[in-house]
Amino acid sequence: MLADDVVDCHVLVIGSGGAGVRAAIEASQHGDTVLISKTIVGKGGCTTMAEGGFNAVLRDEDSCGIHYEDTMKGGAYLNDPALVDILVKEAPLRMGDLVKWGAVFDFTDMDEVAQRPFGGQRFPRTCYAGDRTGHEMMTTLVEKLDGTDVATLQEYTVIDLLKDGDRVIGAMALDERGDLVLLKADSTILATGGGTKVYDISTNSSSGTGDGYAIGYRAGAELIDMEMIQFHPTGAVFPYDARGRLVTEAVRGEGGVLKNSRGERFMQKYDPQRMELSTRDVVARAIATEILEGRGTPNGGVYLDVTHLPREQIESRLPVMLEQFLKFGVDIRTTPMEVAPTAHHIMGGLRITPECRTTLPGLFACGEVAGGVHGANRLGGNALAETQVFGRRAGAAAGKEEKRQKRIDIEQVRRQEERLDRFLAGTKSPSRVRMMLQQAMWEGAGIFRNATDLKRTLAAVHVLADKPLCAKTSRNLAECCIVQNMCLTASLICRLALVREESRGAHVRKDVTQSHDAEHSPFAHTFISKKGQGIERKGGAA
Ligand code: FUM
Repeated sequence: MLADDVVDCHVLVIGSGGAGVRAAIEASQHGDTVLISKTIVGKGGCTTMAEGGFNAVLRDEDSCGIHYEDTMKGGAYLNDPALVDILVKEAPLRMGDLVKWGAVFDFTDMDEVAQRPFGGQRFPRTCYAGDRTGHEMMTTLVEKLDGTDVATLQEYTVIDLLKDGDRVIGAMALDERGDLVLLKADSTILATGGGTKVYDISTNSSSGTGDGYAIGYRAGAELIDMEMIQFHPTGAVFPYDARGRLVTEAVRGEGGVLKNSRGERFMQKYDPQRMELSTRDVVARAIATEILEGRGTPNGGVYLDVTHLPREQIESRLPVMLEQFLKFGVDIRTTPMEVAPTAHHIMGGLRITPECRTTLPGLFACGEVAGGVHGANRLGGNALAETQVFGRRAGAAAGKEEKRQKRIDIEQVRRQEERLDRFLAGTKSPSRVRMMLQQAMWEGAGIFRNATDLKRTLAAVHVLADKPLCAKTSRNLAECCIVQNMCLTASLICRLALVREESRGAHVRKDVTQSHDAEHSPFAHTFISKKGQGIERKGGAA
């Protein structure tokens, strides 16, 4: 039976985090826009969970040039310079939009937006709303969205893109009952966020399953730098169910210090200049090394201590941290937290132009699903800025695409229905496959890597990807599709981690000895598509 439910629109936005909602707001000025979300708009996704802040140059003593240099250096010079230039120049404008639309950021006594220090930045340029910055942003964006004509489809899971020849003409989705819906669009924006839920320990919400990478790859788009996974240095280590939950970098920005079980402030050894405010790749490796070498805490982390800070500062600037740890039985005003690295962000993603065009006509990408902005390591605070800068750009460019006839290829839909039928006849539990995938990735494609482990992990991922997943009812079909997306995303990570035979930013290959530093690396982006994979060399050749 072929899907008989067809939606037709000018712009289809897939994903309802910060980038997706910003894109939809912009696109709606150009024509009928549909925003489709596998969760509830404003409630799912990672933006709403973002705690620390939004980087924007707002003071005369700071400059876009310094923000640019900090971002390139932090990204180990793998960033796309044109995208970074746009990020730093437009972040202040997008911050201004949010304030104009009613976002309540913290202000100084001088009535200016307050800014705090974050790692790898030579100026305190991270704007914040306590330690619930993303939540404040999403509330504001959703209110703005409500004032537009954007139609929202919630709890719909996009399972693949629709194509007419090379051109993307929309998407296929499952509604909350598991019925197939076709969405035709003149342009389609992927704003599906990240995918570090492919790891056992992750800061991501349950929606961070890498759908956009997998959907884009299957449609034929090119992705870059998928090996670049950011492990946030500080995730919670207990209780068990809260493992990996984000302990914001703002804790260190406010003056928190890291200590090992001997009470040593170990960052002295790893980055004596920047200490706890070194870049995330450096701090995460330092913490992992302390733990691996036996100087960790009884719960398998290190201490993050703010007990020396005034109580009032903790209560006003870190209220979410205070409340969260009180629930875990720890009063951070008097007792150090215990933290360890947790998978947080995928720096790679779909290759985009400054207008957020992917390599496929009709398909745009913005936010974490797009690659290039952050290079080999993202600076904390640059992701929220990225969602707004590139969300707006994607919405504007997609909105300006011309309206056209869109022919649905019935064979493509039939193949999808056959895939869904196979799930209804499958035998393997998707949640079990997901768990095995997460463990394999955590063990073999984590902070420290080598070719042997990566090959073993990739082989395990392929075995899991081939399992005949079982949907007990049509309501479980989406879960099967998502687990397949996770397996595909994991395989893209491992494949490009094998291709990049150097240590750079967040990607450390213990089995490779090299003579260059990041700035002088002969290598540029890794790339992968259905046509093949490889690594570019500086100066252009692959
Ligand atoms: O630590 C944090 O608050 C996270 C911020 C970010 O990833 O940008």
